[in-house]
Amino acid sequence: MSKSGVKTKESSLTQTKRVKERREGKNAKVDLQVTDRRYLVFGGTRGLGRAVAKLLSQEGAKVIVTGRTTPDNRESARSLPGVETWVLDTGDAGSISYFLEKWGDTLLDGLFVNTGGPPPGDFFDLSPEDWIQAFSQLLYGPVQLLKALSPKIADGGSVLFNTSSSIRVPIDHLFLSNVLRPAVEALAKGLSLELASRQIRVNVIAPGRIGTERVLQLDQVAATRRHLTLEEIQAQARAQIPLGRYGSPEEFARAAAFLLSPAAAFISGASLFVDGGQTKAL
Ligand SMILES: NC(=O)c1ccc[n+]([C@@H]2O[C@H](COP(=O)([O-])OP(=O)(O)OC[C@H]3O[C@@H](n4cnc5c(N)ncnc54)[C@H](OP(=O)(O)O)[C@@H]3O)[C@@H](O)[C@H]2O)c1
Repeated sequence: MSKSGVKTKESSLTQTKRVKERREGKNAKVDLQVTDRRYLVFGGTRGLGRAVAKLLSQEGAKVIVTGRTTPDNRESARSLPGVETWVLDTGDAGSISYFLEKWGDTLLDGLFVNTGGPPPGDFFDLSPEDWIQAFSQLLYGPVQLLKALSPKIADGGSVLFNTSSSIRVPIDHLFLSNVLRPAVEALAKGLSLELASRQIRVNVIAPGRIGTERVLQLDQVAATRRHLTLEEIQAQARAQIPLGRYGSPEEFARAAAFLLSPAAAFISGASLFVDGGQTKAL
C-alpha cells in the first residue's frame, strides 16, 4: 500500500519468500501415519539421512540413526530431539556384527539403507582397496544387515535404499558409484519380490544434486580439477538441472519419508528420482 520505498521492499521480499516456499513445497502435507512406528536410519548423522530422521521424528516416529559418529556427527544427531544414535560402519564386518548383536530382537517398521558415498575417480585412478571398501560399504554391508534385520521388520513394513541418479545415467568421475549403485538397485528389486509375501515393501530413492556436505566436497574437487571457482562449478551444475537449482535435504526427506510410510502402501520395487528432472532417461 505504502508509497515509501521501505514497505514496498518488505512486501516484495515477503512475496519472494512465498514463491520460494511454494516452489519447494515447504508447507505441503500428507498424513504419513508414522506415529509411534520405529524406523532405523543408517548414515543418519548428517546430510540426507539426518534430514530423513528429522522429518520422521517430527511426524511422531521413534527413530534410531547410525553412523561411524565422529564427535561432530554425534552432536549433529543429538540435536534431533528424541532420536537415538548408534555406532555402525556399514563397510566394517566387525562393526556390523557388534551392531546386530546389540540390536537383538527389537521389531522395526522401516529401514532407510544409506551410507557415505564412494570417493570420486575414473577407472585408472582407483586402487584395489578403493574397490573393496566401496563394495563393502555400499553393497555387501547392506546385504549382511538386511539378511539379519529382515526377519525383524514387522509385516507391512518398508525398506528404502538410498542410491544415486547414477543408477540410470553414469556420472563423470564417479566410477565406483556408476558400477555399484545399479547393483544396489538390483538388490532392492530382488528383495521387493522376496519380501512381498510379508507385505514388506522395498524401494529405491535416487538423489541428484541435493545440497549437502558431500555434494559441496564433490563440487570443490571438480573446481580444483578443472581450475574453476566453486561458484563457476555450481553454476554449471545448476544449468544441467531442468528445475535450475540444487535440491534441499528437506525436499529429499519428504519423498523418502513418504516411501517409508504406510501412505505409500501400494508402492514396491520402484525407483524414485529426486533430482530436479536431471536424469534424462525413461
Ligand atoms: N547429496 C546428493 O545430492 C547425493 C546424490 C547422489 C548420491 N548421494 C549419496 O547419498 C548418500 C548420502 O549422501 P549425503 O549427501 O547425505 O552424504 P554425507 O553428507 O556425506 O552423509 C553421509 C552419512 O553417512 C554416514 N557414513 C559415512 N560413511 C559411513 C560408513 N562407512 N558407515 C556408516 N555410515 C557412514 C555419515 O556419518 P558418519 O560420518 O558419522 O559415518 C553421514 O551420516 C551418499 O552415499 C551419497 O553418495 C547423494
